[in-house]
Amino acid sequence: MSNSIYRKDGTAQGVAKQRLIESLAKPNKRIIYDPYAKKFVLGANIIRLIGHKFSVWLGNKIVPGMHEHLICRTRFIDDFIERSTPIDIEQYVILGAGYDSRAHRLKLPSKLKIFEVDQLEVQERKRSRISDNIPNIENVTYVSIDFNHHSLSEQLLSAGFDRSKPTIYTMEGVSQYIEKETLNLTLKEIAKLNPNSNSKFFISYVNKLIKEDPRVCFGEGYSKPNKAVKFITDSSANVGEPWISFYSAQEIKDLLFQNNFTVIENKTLADLNSKYFTPVGRTIPENYIFKLEHFVIAKNKN
Ligand SMILES: C[S@@+](CC[C@H](N)C(=O)[O-])C[C@H]1O[C@@H](n2cnc3c(N)ncnc32)[C@H](O)[C@@H]1O
Repeated sequence: MSNSIYRKDGTAQGVAKQRLIESLAKPNKRIIYDPYAKKFVLGANIIRLIGHKFSVWLGNKIVPGMHEHLICRTRFIDDFIERSTPIDIEQYVILGAGYDSRAHRLKLPSKLKIFEVDQLEVQERKRSRISDNIPNIENVTYVSIDFNHHSLSEQLLSAGFDRSKPTIYTMEGVSQYIEKETLNLTLKEIAKLNPNSNSKFFISYVNKLIKEDPRVCFGEGYSKPNKAVKFITDSSANVGEPWISFYSAQEIKDLLFQNNFTVIENKTLADLNSKYFTPVGRTIPENYIFKLEHFVIAKNKN
């Protein structure tokens, strides 16, 4: 048991903190905007005083490129959700939602039903920090779960999930915290939930080479990759949420395929740098590229 001041939300706060920092940049310089992140982050007022430029500089002294990696992940999923939901998707399930605020900050169709899935403690804290008149709250249902102990399908169905409706699922920054078997079972549950529909899935995963050859998880010339890996994994373990599962691209492809999904994209910050950062004049130099986590989009095989 960790003595952390965080109550199961240390890593959820960590990601929200990067969204807060990015939201402090000038509108023509930022790649995402999350006006709600500040509600969830310990020390948010200090970060707001420090500002975007200095906070990013400080972060880059510790783990170069990690801020850019995390906000790139968020933007990649935002784009995926915004382009998919107006077409044929009627339900959105956010697995391990933490302090994700997509339900409230993106322009989503009013018919889209959103299920936020996470541990009860994290959801209680989240709900205590947002107001009843936050945009689109009427379309959000909170589903409390511990992926290790509860059945996702049972919890979703009892919360009003409709098996006949095409659904989009996102699992952002979660797979490294759960056992491989748990991820497999979760995917099996999802395959059972939507056997015939035109569903889509996003998952991020940490490259298993993080253990064997950390250098390949960063850009050419990245300074001290072993130190960066140690800092990230130690920080997560110190808040009671150690990284325990790592994958190869083939493993993820096979796992999704066995569970009725076929991979259509597998990207990292290196692939998205010119798409997201170059247009705002922030192209990330090669020796700052952080690509140990991959972003995967898959669609239902049917
Ligand atoms: C790094 S945070 C990411 C949060 C959010 N997806 C984001 O990107 O802002 C990981 C999230 O996974 C959730 N999580 C980890 N293990 C879990 C489990 N066994 N059952 C349910 N949720 C879990 C945590 O509570 C946390 O909110």
